Amino acid sequence: MKDYHTTPVALAADHGGYALKEAIRAHLEAKGIPYKDFGTHSADSCDYPDMALPACQAVTAEQCSCAILCCGTGVGMSMCANKVRGIRACCCSETFSAEFTRRHNDANALCLGGRVVGEGLALSIVDIFLSTPFEGGRHSRRIEKVMAIEQL
Ligand code: RB5
Repeated sequence: MKDYHTTPVALAADHGGYALKEAIRAHLEAKGIPYKDFGTHSADSCDYPDMALPACQAVTAEQCSCAILCCGTGVGMSMCANKVRGIRACCCSETFSAEFTRRHNDANALCLGGRVVGEGLALSIVDIFLSTPFEGGRHSRRIEKVMAIEQL
């Protein structure tokens, strides 16, 4: 994952994740962390794949360091993200998974459910996801095997 201090974080949401995306946007803004907002820009009903795809493509094009994707459950966003070649997305509702999906899976997309996690917990998950490095070592071999699956 590229340095999130210098390469923008891709943010995206549907209507179910809009309020949480806005809270995360304000949180990143307050911390001086650059971001690119792929929408949605209101609470009007929309379709999560429409926002997930460009946000994930910005990550694989290395224009963004990682993606933070919010929908009602986080599940639809994670389904979309994991279909984009080069994306390793994890849907998190607690901090342990957020830490270890960075340490062990080198995840480059975090998915959150705006109807599942409260704002305070979500912001802690975001902070841990962004600040935790990949451990490498034996996990690099496993990531290579994970990425080989999408070539089949
Ligand atoms: C929208 O109602 C909802 O289905 C969506 O936000 C998400 O939870 C899908 O996985």
